[in-house]
Amino acid sequence: MIALGSDHAGLPLKREIMALLDSMNLEYRDFGTLTADSCDYAVFAQRAANAVACGECDRGILCCGTGIGISIAANKVKGIRCVACSDCFSAKMSRMHNDANMLAMGARVVGAELGRMIAEIWLTTGFEGGRHQRRIDQITAIENGENLG
Ligand code: RB5
Repeated sequence: MIALGSDHAGLPLKREIMALLDSMNLEYRDFGTLTADSCDYAVFAQRAANAVACGECDRGILCCGTGIGISIAANKVKGIRCVACSDCFSAKMSRMHNDANMLAMGARVVGAELGRMIAEIWLTTGFEGGRHQRRIDQITAIENGENLG
């Protein structure tokens, strides 16, 4: 189950992502926004991120104007590793090396086709583990208030 969230600026791109998920036969839950009325991205980032953090959803995709604000907000939720991404290489690496569990994109940055391509790569790429798991564990330790030295 994929958690989706956006503000008004990200709504058109989120709709593209919904069509992509339909074509991939992947289930999703949309945490809003549902209309083009101006709204605040942090609200929808938090709703979708909470669903990923608690395990209700496996991963999440967020859209705002730039992908920046909504990713910063999502990363405030414990357990979330959200990458703001506008290229395919970073999308792939964010999965292979960083085990990113949320992807954020900007509807004012990427077009529909690039956005769908980034999302498809991100959804189909696995985590490599190994030395990268150690680094993820260190990120989690920072989140838990530990000092890495
Ligand atoms: C909304 O105008 C815009 O600021 C928002 O979608 C996002 O780009 C913020 O980071």
